[in-house]
Amino acid sequence: MRGVVIVGAQWGDEGKGKVVDHYALVADLVVRYQGGANAGHTLVVGGQKTVLHLVPSGILHPGKMCAVGPGCVVDPVAFLDEVEALRAVGLTVDASSLMLSERAHLVLPVHRALDAARESAAGPGRIGTTGRGIGPAYEDAVARRGVRFADLSDPDYLRARVEALHFERNLLLTGLGAAPQSVGPTVELLLELRDRLAPLLGDVGRLVAEGAAAGLRVLYEGAQGTLLDVLHGSYPYVTSSSTVAANAASGVGVGPGLLGAVIGITKAYCTRVGAGPFPTELDDMLGERLRAVGHEYGATTGRPRRCGWLDVPALRYAARLNGLTGLALTKLDVLSGLETVRIAVGYRWRGQRWDELPAEPVAITEVEPIYETLPGWSEPLGEARALADLPSAARAFVERVAELSGVPVALVSVGPDREALIELVAPFG
Ligand code: IMP
Repeated sequence: MRGVVIVGAQWGDEGKGKVVDHYALVADLVVRYQGGANAGHTLVVGGQKTVLHLVPSGILHPGKMCAVGPGCVVDPVAFLDEVEALRAVGLTVDASSLMLSERAHLVLPVHRALDAARESAAGPGRIGTTGRGIGPAYEDAVARRGVRFADLSDPDYLRARVEALHFERNLLLTGLGAAPQSVGPTVELLLELRDRLAPLLGDVGRLVAEGAAAGLRVLYEGAQGTLLDVLHGSYPYVTSSSTVAANAASGVGVGPGLLGAVIGITKAYCTRVGAGPFPTELDDMLGERLRAVGHEYGATTGRPRRCGWLDVPALRYAARLNGLTGLALTKLDVLSGLETVRIAVGYRWRGQRWDELPAEPVAITEVEPIYETLPGWSEPLGEARALADLPSAARAFVERVAELSGVPVALVSVGPDREALIELVAPFG
């Protein structure tokens, strides 16, 4: 059985949590392949808001197995806090429902300290990170000085790893004028946590490969979005992991042949948190309206999100990079009440027309979107369960997005509740 990859097709916050939550109904195994507690999925279940940062949203469905792959970086305190919060609402979170990769790298207090020190030293050039230590943790993994969950099993080895990491990172922290971090408390904290972590640790690649071989349906859950990918995104205003669908295989530890459908999540408009170019940004009342109606505030940091019109050139780029087989179009209801709605269908830059997002940093900040204007609709959409239930202008919008992006629409989300969905194509066929 080939799995389904869920990937953000924009700058993150596309509503992946709700789509994963829905697809998890028909999946057996839900696995995260990259990122860390920088992600935040807000889910509304029975009118109650639940925010998950690390644990896949499939955990809300009893009987499903969830896993956090080796491609993720995990703050053990944040992870265990989340586990406890889920247990507190009556969910079973143990080895029968959750596995954390023993090969995943730890996010340590020193990583958070470095993230903060760097951002404050960067002044106006800051990235606007989530401050969760994600960049420094990935750097340490690549620099071969990281600490992995498997390392917790041997206290002497663990101490040596933490010491070597702190030796180098404290040089940088003090160079930035920040306080160095001590090794002792970090090692003690990790040794204190390891008995609680140990039952959840395992080989995620093996779990998924064996599950797929036995016919289980696997959902690969991406975090952030394509335009935040460290190689393909709006560099340097990106996160530090590879967010694209191809990394689902490596970030879990299976071969790419196990991946099947790739569903790109896109809002009916665009948002971005943090700094960096955003061609269709609306710096006006309309942008404020989208923020207010769409509740566009970061699930992790609470920061207001920048808002703008749907950007099809960027979406086409995401479609190509990820090999999207379907789109999940979210938050269509937020556009209700506008007289007209706009979609950027191309860019103009230095007298030329561009149909995809160019790589040059100047280009991406200087491009002028070319808009198509469509009639709006005034009706609320929350009760629609089929395309035919939508007002004709909203239906025309959905059809136009599919046409312009070249990707068929598999799902439309029309409200924050779990049931507020129009399903056109079932994820596992
Ligand atoms: P970092 O991942 O915390 O290093 O942040 C790097 C960039 O990615 C910043 O612009 C963040 O706002 C953005 N970012 C990281 N995680 C998310 C997310 O889950 N949603 C939206 N933006 C994110």
